[in-house]
Amino acid sequence: MEIPDILKEKFSSARRVCVLTGAGISAESGVPTFRSSGSALVWKGMPFTEISSARMVREDLGEVWEWFDYRRNLLKECKPNPGHLALAAWQERFDEFTLVTQNIDNLHRTAGSREVIELHGNIWRARCESCGRLDDIVEKESGVPICRSCSERMRPDVVLFGEMLPVGAFDTAADRATKCDLFFIIGTSAVVYPAAALPETAARSGAFLVEVNPEEAPLTQYCDLSLRGNAGDVLPLFTDL
Ligand code: OAD
Repeated sequence: MEIPDILKEKFSSARRVCVLTGAGISAESGVPTFRSSGSALVWKGMPFTEISSARMVREDLGEVWEWFDYRRNLLKECKPNPGHLALAAWQERFDEFTLVTQNIDNLHRTAGSREVIELHGNIWRARCESCGRLDDIVEKESGVPICRSCSERMRPDVVLFGEMLPVGAFDTAADRATKCDLFFIIGTSAVVYPAAALPETAARSGAFLVEVNPEEAPLTQYCDLSLRGNAGDVLPLFTDL
């Protein structure tokens, strides 16, 4: 694949660049996506929208931890791929670079991205339901962890269905989307709001919208350009521009 000339020009002259990533950027690292090929992730017969929900946290936090322990265990072996690494290099390149992710897998940080707006939290962190204490999860036994500050229950520090995004994260992302010249939508079906609103915000403010995805997605119709390929193949093509 060749990067089209118009995009080469935009990329070379852009001062403010914003990127929104989703599960697709981690697919080549071995992380399963949520909705690829028309099927949705199911665990113990439950759709992920049910097991990853605010209602499940209220009704069966133990089961929620079991699901997240299972996912962390899969993620342990996953390494950043050339797509993550290319984006980490972009942070040095523009006056303002904003990386917004819906992923909770931490692979952007592992790849070297310093500032990552994690709209849906991080699977490697636990949060106290009562005092809000945050703990990195290094070694975890099975079951529900108890807060070392106030002895209340801790939950995964991730955003579940039926919950609000972390305070400030979306506002910062929306502000950057409004101001950027170039907006990339990488590896996301962009159907989950409010994250999906960011490309719309950028487009309304005059940014050039580029999609990187091997398949068409609902947002394709709003993009100025679609690069049909895997993020791990496409993003390194920008390195020498
Ligand atoms: P989806 O599974 O909905 O979409 C993944 C997208 O990545 C699809 O459009 C694929 O075509 C594309 N894709 C697959 N392999 C790719 C590759 N190698 N390179 C580039 N793109 C590739 O995942 P998300 O859009 O991230 O939220 O889902 C958004 C949110 O829905 C998730 O954060 C999660 C989920 O429910 C919560 O858990 C709150």
